Amino acid sequence: MESRYHQTYQAFQADAEQFWANEARRIDWFKEPEQAFAPELGVYGQWFQGGETNACHNAIDRHIAAGRGAETAILYDSPVSGRKQRFTYDEALAEITAIAAVLLSHGVSKGDRIILYMPMIPQAVFSMLACARIGAVHSVVFGGFAASELATRIDDSRAKAVISASCGLEPGRIVPYKPLLDQAIDMASHKPDVCFVLQRDELHAALRYSHGDCDLGQAIEHEKALGTAVPCTAVAATNPLYILYTSGTTGQPKGVVRDTGGYLVALAWTMEAHYGMRPGEVFWTASDIGWVVGHSYIVYGPLIAGNTTIIYEGKPVGTPDAGAFWRVVEEYDVKALFTAPTAFRAIRREDPEGEFIRTHNLSGLRALFLAGERADPETLKWAERQLGVPVIDHWWQTETGWAIAGNPLGLGALPVKHGSPSVPMPGYRLEVLDDAGHAVAAGTLGNLVVKLPLPPGCLVSFWNADQRFRDACLSEFPGYYKTADAGLIDEDGYVFVMARTDDIINCAGHRLSTGAMEEVCAMHPDVAECAVIGVADALKGQVPCGFVVLKRNVTRDAQILSREIIQLVRDEIGPVAAFKTVMVVERLPKTRSGKILRGTMQKIADGLPWKMPATIDDPAILDEISLVLSQHGHGNTCPAVA
Ligand code: COA
Ligand code: AMP
Repeated sequence: MESRYHQTYQAFQADAEQFWANEARRIDWFKEPEQAFAPELGVYGQWFQGGETNACHNAIDRHIAAGRGAETAILYDSPVSGRKQRFTYDEALAEITAIAAVLLSHGVSKGDRIILYMPMIPQAVFSMLACARIGAVHSVVFGGFAASELATRIDDSRAKAVISASCGLEPGRIVPYKPLLDQAIDMASHKPDVCFVLQRDELHAALRYSHGDCDLGQAIEHEKALGTAVPCTAVAATNPLYILYTSGTTGQPKGVVRDTGGYLVALAWTMEAHYGMRPGEVFWTASDIGWVVGHSYIVYGPLIAGNTTIIYEGKPVGTPDAGAFWRVVEEYDVKALFTAPTAFRAIRREDPEGEFIRTHNLSGLRALFLAGERADPETLKWAERQLGVPVIDHWWQTETGWAIAGNPLGLGALPVKHGSPSVPMPGYRLEVLDDAGHAVAAGTLGNLVVKLPLPPGCLVSFWNADQRFRDACLSEFPGYYKTADAGLIDEDGYVFVMARTDDIINCAGHRLSTGAMEEVCAMHPDVAECAVIGVADALKGQVPCGFVVLKRNVTRDAQILSREIIQLVRDEIGPVAAFKTVMVVERLPKTRSGKILRGTMQKIADGLPWKMPATIDDPAILDEISLVLSQHGHGNTCPAVA
């Protein structure tokens, strides 16, 4: 089929407002928008001003109204607990309504923020939709974050309530959530009114009723018995649906604010045009609701489009083996699978010949979508060979909520260029600028930026921090959103995303700030100064690696100190930081003005060609770093090039 991409992109370029006004018909409005785009509103303008809608209505109720209540909305498959459940739209509505009633009966109302700290269980998705139903703003915190990260989010959002569970299940390990939650509440200066805790069979949590804890399971049963009806609250299209905190360049995470109307419209468009899905089919995103990918394509996207979505509480390998994904794809007749390249690297490592793949009937699968980090061509080609379906890399960020660049299967796929997430999606006027803000020639590396306005569905600001949003994303290149990714656009319009221009690294598809890790390392009483860089890793893409200089009088054993610092990062940021390497060094390489040469250290660690920076203070320090790295099995293959 001839791709309709070019014609669609041109329609957007010709009249962006008309383009999105047409697409807005994909969703139900309680009140039609007065205008598609209002440039005078918000930080850079706002979409669908005057419109009123509700995300839960569009995800659930309208499908029931269309007579599809008995069709499957949500499948829960948990290889770690051995549980499986199926919820029709009708059944999902009953669960969501009960949670919404629980929230209302505890005084939660429209606009209140609710933190969700939950494992991958159906109640997590029901809770998100229950918040949306009553116009409350959810903020999901990934289960692998530590108490202090949770506390920061409670404080920043001034959450009225927290919804959590007694535990998460990692392979071979139960993660008790309640002690982390208690710790977070104790640390936070803002105290939520109530903490709802869902008791899981694997571990019951001790509830602090005097502190406002509430057994969520019991409260749900109570509301179900009462049969309380909770209609969907009409919210302005421009109202926040959720806040999702993501790593910024400091330890202070950024609260990405997503509006309601624009997000629903953009997701509805992508489900058909990008992912090529038709209502009633099964769409599976193997990620976590703690990440943006989970928000957009486990919860809202597939449900808005009337697809069945899967909540998978497991891993690509080890639950029980590298055939886990194929079992799920076959069992539920998954039409499109979306995950991070790291999951495929993990599968390939354990099943290089694809033997597990061949023991399953994957004939229903139409495509594999990859995002979250650079898809290395080797993994991509392996997946293509093994699966025999298009493997589609697409590039996006927590901030954008959906793909900036991709290969739109629904419009007809374009030829693939390995290493490129293909072409800009309609909505994004993508350009490459040099550091001075001038456009560069095709094929030249530079800063990937999006000309304002951002399309519907992208962030509208940071929570309570418009100026921080302007400073971080809009001020460096006036008139543009800075993606903080470096890359190029080739002669054919294909985008190549090469590296971040800030301190963010991508570890196992998880976005981490090395700056935040440095802040934690520096908290150790024996550390004088430190640097954290991301080094290449065959499985996780990148892993953090810390270098610490000790205070002069410290004589303690370096190995013990390293272990303490590693534990500190695990306690302060969480296991998700995957921070397992600390090297004690005499000095850090710096420029004469005192800037640590992290980029050069990273190149040495990865064994890449590097140049001696002209501004370096003392070149001998790089030799010392090379030596320490080689003692830890990194780099040392490439001396400095002239
Ligand atoms: N709750 C508590 N702890 C968690 C957690 C959660 N929800 N998720 C991860 N962790 C822990 C892990 O148990 C691990 O702990 P450990 O140091 O004690 O082993 C640590 O955080 C690091 O996790 P991770 O980096 O994910 O490594 P892993 O070895 O557990 O798994 C992969 C590696 C590749 C299998 C896994 O990362 C994966 O499936 N990635 C897919 C990525 C993805 O979904 N990305 C989202 C964007 S699409
Ligand atoms: P997150 O906000 O966690 O989704 O991380 C966003 C960052 O991940 C982007 O800024 C990129 O650096 C990286 N990223 C996501 N998808 C891709 C991709 N397909 N190719 C290259 N990098 C990607």
